[in-house]
Amino acid sequence: MSAEIFDLIIIGGGPGGYVAAIRAGQLGMKVAVVEKRQTLGGVCLNEGCIPSKALLDSSEHFAFARDKFARHGIIIPPPELDLEKMMARKDDVVKKNTDGIAFLFKKNGITLVQGSGSIGKKAGDLHCVDIVIPGHGKTEVLTGRRILLATGSSAIELPGLHFDGERIVSAREALSFAAVPEHLVVIGAGFIGLELGSVWMRLGAKVTVVEMLEKPLPTMDGQAADTLVRSLKKQGMKFLFGTKVNSAVSEGNGLKVSVSGLSGDDEILCDRILVAVGRKPLTAGLGLEEAGIVVEKSGRISVDENFQTNVPGIYAIGDLIAGPMLAHKASEEGVVFAERLHGEGGRVEYEYLPGVCYTWPEAASVGKTEEQLKHEGVDYAVGKFNFLANGRARCMDETDGFVKILAEKESGRILGIHIVGPRASDLITEAVTAMTFGATAEDLAMTFHAHPTLAEAIKEAALDVMKRAIHS
Ligand code: NAI
Repeated sequence: MSAEIFDLIIIGGGPGGYVAAIRAGQLGMKVAVVEKRQTLGGVCLNEGCIPSKALLDSSEHFAFARDKFARHGIIIPPPELDLEKMMARKDDVVKKNTDGIAFLFKKNGITLVQGSGSIGKKAGDLHCVDIVIPGHGKTEVLTGRRILLATGSSAIELPGLHFDGERIVSAREALSFAAVPEHLVVIGAGFIGLELGSVWMRLGAKVTVVEMLEKPLPTMDGQAADTLVRSLKKQGMKFLFGTKVNSAVSEGNGLKVSVSGLSGDDEILCDRILVAVGRKPLTAGLGLEEAGIVVEKSGRISVDENFQTNVPGIYAIGDLIAGPMLAHKASEEGVVFAERLHGEGGRVEYEYLPGVCYTWPEAASVGKTEEQLKHEGVDYAVGKFNFLANGRARCMDETDGFVKILAEKESGRILGIHIVGPRASDLITEAVTAMTFGATAEDLAMTFHAHPTLAEAIKEAALDVMKRAIHS
């Protein structure tokens, strides 16, 4: 056992854990992070957000050169794909990001222990974390005043479609295919399915998305989801909504997927299947039961407003607790956790948590959807502005989509903003800021927006809430 006593031991170095560690370090705490991977950053940096966005950007350039240059008057021979180079660039982007976190750990005096951590037996008032060091079978024990659990989540497997790492895969492997699949079947029209489906479609694969529900991205505003689907269909993505996958079996060199949908049973032949039907909290082997920590039926850990579990001194954040499994949610919880531990009174503004789907066009939203407002019986007004009437979008030749603002009828206070369109991921930040500061549609409408910018569509949508839009 190490003689050192830490103020905080964090199990998991993903966007929840590493951010909590840095903030706690800044606040003067003595922090140790136990991470089983060789690199920091968790799923997000190593095999999620960052590599997928690197591939989304690369494949977007490829598809742009192939499909759109000519409209801009640029005539080139059809571009050729060097997939190996594209993957190497992605790996380099990941490395730069994970190395960056390692540097930040050094800068903030955080102790990093590589190994699998679990909650150990208490030593008096102190908590212990048992660590199995990879390759050694050796164990180490860290002692501290508090433990933060931030181990994230893992992909859900479907019965009868076990991940084989080659042909039936999760997002991890779909980020590293050695060749472009001929026909990729994506199960689940959620964030991962649509983003990685887009990557491989742009690089030349036929992509069929099979979704159990009637629409994609279940939490997205219906009108936004419909517009996104229309746009993806135009690019060649095929959708089977209201369809369930029954099984997948080998057929020659490929796979035969049997599905049951609205129009009966069918079979699809493909060479790769990406299963993207959600993720589950990664709690196995953490020693929760032995420590007496309450886990809900959903598999999530219950915590109070300080992120403390029912066991004093043991905390949890990120994908392990309630809420959307998003990196920026976990990071914000990490910061607020550390600050509350330090006696400060921060809170996570869950109402203003943005969600982004990085397809093209992108889809981004914050606040309530129109369906939610209807369900809650709220009296609301809608302002909408299409990118078709936005000068900058026309210059870019990217006019699919719109900005939609939902505001309380009486007060004009903004309740939700939904954007489908070019760079919606960047545009949504203005919406989040406005809503966090309690803005009304009029506040947004009165704010200068540089011309010509995509953001002018936000101003126009805000004006349209009061039926005063200039360009529509
Ligand atoms: P998801 O929860 O976003 O979507 C899963 C989809 O699969 C849903 O539409 C669901 O109805 C469907 N589904 C479930 N079971 C099915 C079945 N048996 N057959 C057909 N369809 C089925 O999950 P996803 O895409 O796997 O992402 C996992 C997590 O990662 C999510 O919480 C997501 O928020 C997060 N994520 C976020 C990203 C972003 O913010 N851009 C990118 C990637 C992941």
